Amino acid sequence: MNKTTAVYPGSFDPLTIGHEDIVRRSLRIVDRLIVAVAETATQSKSGLFSIDERVDLIREVFADEPRVEATSFSGLLVDFAQGREARVIIRGLRAVSDFEYEFQMALMNRSLWPEVEVLFMAPATRHTFLSSSLVREVGRLGGDVTDFVSPGVKTRMDRAFGRTAGE
Ligand code: PNS
Repeated sequence: MNKTTAVYPGSFDPLTIGHEDIVRRSLRIVDRLIVAVAETATQSKSGLFSIDERVDLIREVFADEPRVEATSFSGLLVDFAQGREARVIIRGLRAVSDFEYEFQMALMNRSLWPEVEVLFMAPATRHTFLSSSLVREVGRLGGDVTDFVSPGVKTRMDRAFGRTAGE
């Protein structure tokens, strides 16, 4: 039987527990999942971690999950997915406000590569308010991000903001 490989692309700056939830849900449907950090995001954002740091964090969080691969890509997502023979793209959809941008991207990606299918996954309700940009801002302003990211991600965020763990 053919194995299904999917790509879960994003900025992941940083990976939140909302992303983790989408990864674990996706693994119920696909055999292998490539979590791919985009070097070129479609929307401009001020970054916290380098691309390599983001990939490292994803690897660390899913170290116990052999079906997950973390990597980065440059250029078009569809070119990367095609090169990895991944015909499924996973995106998390938190709210109606995500829909327009996601729908545009899905249709653009499919017109660039007609064989690709974009699968939208709904996160657990308790994660629907989470976004990397809000988590970055809360962390930057000294708020507690314990509930929003894995412990390893929190440690790295504390370090990036010049705080020692538990401070
Ligand atoms: O987590 P994000 O920032 O919402 O993810 C957006 C991402 C990385 C999926 C999107 O910017 C992307 O696919 N970038 C790669 C370049 C590309 O293919 N652009 C055309 C998208 S239709």
